This record gives sequence, structure tokens and C-alpha cells, in this order.
Amino acid sequence: MIIAIDGPAASGKGTLAKRVAVHYGLPHLDTGLLYRAVGRDALARGIALDNAEAAAEVASALEIATLDDPALRTAGAGEAASQVARHPAVRTALLAYQRSFAHGELGAVLDGRDIGTVICPDADAKLFVTATPEVRAMRRFLELAGRGVAISEAAVLEDIRARDERDSTRGAAPLVQAPDAVLLDTSNLSIDAAFRAALDLIEAAMSRA
Ligand code: DC
Repeated sequence: MIIAIDGPAASGKGTLAKRVAVHYGLPHLDTGLLYRAVGRDALARGIALDNAEAAAEVASALEIATLDDPALRTAGAGEAASQVARHPAVRTALLAYQRSFAHGELGAVLDGRDIGTVICPDADAKLFVTATPEVRAMRRFLELAGRGVAISEAAVLEDIRARDERDSTRGAAPLVQAPDAVLLDTSNLSIDAAFRAALDLIEAAMSRA
């Protein structure tokens, strides 16, 4: 059983994917962490983020065991991730790992930008999770404020809009809803309500499959 959950930054897809994975007893992969780690390692080695070839080498050498680094959750790492994620060679270097994770014994829940379109076009259920940029900015702002990060809500909104633009307009695997994915708009939903709606949509997709 493979469940693909895609969507823009701070749409709630990560939280949903985690809960869906627990519900079905499936392993979960947050694929954004792979790109964040490539960004982190590239910066640490002094590699320019627009150097596709060098970034792809970093992606090929990625130590998957270091993906639990809390430093990967910062806004800076997200920004670096979004920049290295534009390079087709970086995406190719990360493809096999994601596919083999998805096709493990039980299957898996993967969340990202291109799971339903590129990584697992054969997924049993595909969700495309969105919320308005304003709602996403507010959620991210509250999360950052809770962690003691000093940033204004307006700056977070600007950051989210810039990231949406870059992720959606890049040539390689842009953020786009797969034709067979179902849309879940969480703008007016609590986390619990979004989780219940996600389960209903997944069950419906399974029964169609
Ligand atoms: O989901 P996230 O915020 O952790 O992702 C960080 C960046 O990584 C995002 O701006 C684009 C890139 N990304 C991607 O291109 N493809 C994925 N499957 C996941 C993330």
C-alpha cells in the first residue's frame, strides 16, 4: 500500500502524512528532508546552490542516517532545499532511494512535491494538500514563534509565496497536482478534521483502486 501526499510548504501535509502512516502502520518518508539535507551539505562544503553538478554529487553522497538533524527544519534549510531541488540531476540522484523506500515490504506513506507525479505514479492513493498562503503563513509563524524564532508573519508569508513560485515554476518535477490526486484544502480545518478528511479520501481511493 503506497500513499502519496503532496502539497506546498506549510500546507500541513507533513503532519497528515505522519498520522496517516501511524494509522495504517506504514513507514513514512518526509522527502523534503532529503532536499534539505542536500542543501545543508552543499552549504557546509561551500558549494554554490546553483552549481547543479556539484549539488548532484552531494545528493549522491547523502548520508540518509543524518536526516533526523533538527537543523534541517529551519527556514534557511528549506530555502536551500528549494534551490537545489530545481536541478534535475539532484532529483535523479534522490529518485532510487525514494522509490525503494516506497516499495518496501509493507509499502509506505511519502510526502513531498512530486510523489504522485514522478516518484510513485502508481500509488494506491494520492492526496494533494493545500491551504491558502495566508493560512499557511499563519501556521508557520505560530510554529516558529513557539520555538522562539523572531520573525514577522509578513516575512513568513513573503517566504512562502517565494517558495511556492519557485517550486511550481521549475522545469524539473514542478509542484503540481497529479490528475488522479484528490484535493484536500485544509484552510478551514483543524488538524483532527484534516486527518479525518484525509482518511475518508484515502479509503475512497482504495476502494476505487
Ligand atoms: O516540504 P519541505 O518544505 O521540507 O521541502 C523543502 C523544499 O524541498 C521544497 O521547497 C522543495 C523541495 N522538495 C522537492 O522539490 N520535492 C520533494 N518531493 C520534496 C521537497
